[in-house]
Amino acid sequence: MLEAHVITLFPDMFESFLSCSFVERAQKKQAMSVILHNLRDFTHDKHNSVDDEPFGGGPGMVLMPGPIFEAAESISESPDVESVVLMTPQGALLTQDRAAEFAQKKRIIVICGRYEGVDERVREYLVTDEVSIGDYVLAGGELPAMVFLEAISRLVPGVVGCEESTFDESHSFAMLEYPQYTRPAKFRSWKVPKVLVSGDHEGVRRWRARQSLLRTFLRRPDLLCGVQKDGFREEMRIRLTLALGDN
Ligand code: ADE
Repeated sequence: MLEAHVITLFPDMFESFLSCSFVERAQKKQAMSVILHNLRDFTHDKHNSVDDEPFGGGPGMVLMPGPIFEAAESISESPDVESVVLMTPQGALLTQDRAAEFAQKKRIIVICGRYEGVDERVREYLVTDEVSIGDYVLAGGELPAMVFLEAISRLVPGVVGCEESTFDESHSFAMLEYPQYTRPAKFRSWKVPKVLVSGDHEGVRRWRARQSLLRTFLRRPDLLCGVQKDGFREEMRIRLTLALGDN
């Protein structure tokens, strides 16, 4: 069971996400729970201020440390918070491997930053991990937090029915998924590849392995080189053998 506490200025943004995403399924299965904390609830002045001008001048406003620390400390009174994650474009890129690591945890805090910035003391003395969802800048960490939570929720043990489906997907073993087709077998003038409707299971496996390799090679060759994960070489050997038909 993973408990994810989200600290945000915009809890309303999460409402439809939490009611119709994979996270909802994870919550129903009691494999994960997401608890929202409104940063403004941890302010003490009459304007409920959460940000202020940067020392030294410059444009934009910076989130003050006080409300963020208070929000986090109200959660971490329960002892086993394992990670305090800041969503920021300065963080390490989110990958399937990283999502899988977080999916193993019991309790995490996710702080939604604002792109103008967060007081550096939050980074230095509270945050344990900084996560970016890509090399582009969004106005705040809310959408990135949703992406992060969705990626994690699918990997929390017990959420996806058949272990196979997360194992086989794009980016497991750094390979892209083969093309998928469904009924009708002929749509307009376009037929699905013959082998898929042939009943030849071995042929289907081989075709899929070939397509998966080809796609990865053509679209994301970077995934094929430099990956030195345990099991990757063996997985490649199996897929190549299958794709080239030498077994
Ligand atoms: N906040 C703003 N942009 C972001 C990004 N690309 N990733 C994570 N958090 C962000």
